[in-house]
Amino acid sequence: MLMPELKPEERLIVALDVANHETAAQLVEQLTPAVSYFKIGLELFYAANRQTAQLVVASGAKLFLDLKLHDIPNTVSRAIVQLVEIGASMVNFHISGGRAMLEAAREAAERRAAQLGVPPPLLLGVTVLTSLAAEDLAAEGIALAPHLVVEKRTRLAWEAGLDGIVCSPQEAALVKEVSGGRLFTVTPGIRQADNADDHSRYTTPAVAIKGGSDYLVVGRPIYEAADPLAAALAIQQQIKEVMLV
Ligand code: C5P
Repeated sequence: MLMPELKPEERLIVALDVANHETAAQLVEQLTPAVSYFKIGLELFYAANRQTAQLVVASGAKLFLDLKLHDIPNTVSRAIVQLVEIGASMVNFHISGGRAMLEAAREAAERRAAQLGVPPPLLLGVTVLTSLAAEDLAAEGIALAPHLVVEKRTRLAWEAGLDGIVCSPQEAALVKEVSGGRLFTVTPGIRQADNADDHSRYTTPAVAIKGGSDYLVVGRPIYEAADPLAAALAIQQQIKEVMLV
């Protein structure tokens, strides 16, 4: 799909990586309407079931459900129907689940969204977890270098009709190249220059946008800040400045 023109403030997705609904709800209240996209991952989804997801959707913000689905096509199709019903705008899958799984998921998402009269969620692929090194892939029987696995899986995602890829800013250019610029990129590992947390490689918001990242996922630098709203606004301002250049 062609990327719709994104406003600078829509490019920031705040990761609600907290352990309970109350903390997440407080963050959503503090950050909306300045922040218009939130991500819920496995921890909060398991802790709060649908409660926080529904709150995000009801707030008018968009929801990225980062649940990294990976199962047989029938199971993933049924799961994605549930996520469409929650109102997710973005969901993701391990591309290693295979072409049939990805295609079945896309068809199921489109069908359920059409029935509900809502836009289908953007479907994102996860290529290779950044925690895996060449030795880990080799232990699974994958002899290719990680960057070649990333390339193959990106191509598979594109052929299966996914919309985008979760990737490091360093991989954004490859994703654009494989898809003629039509897969969009969602990149974590964003930090200001003075704070890397546990990211061995990180990128500032400006460098990520210049390098081809469409959406930036930011967690700790916002939810651990003394003033989360100020931290989010500062990142949005940096995105704006680089887009004006
Ligand atoms: O706190 P921080 O900004 O590092 O949060 C990054 C977010 O991006 C987390 O929610 C994490 O699950 C997610 N992530 C990811 N893929 C990676 C690394 C982090 O989706 N390779």
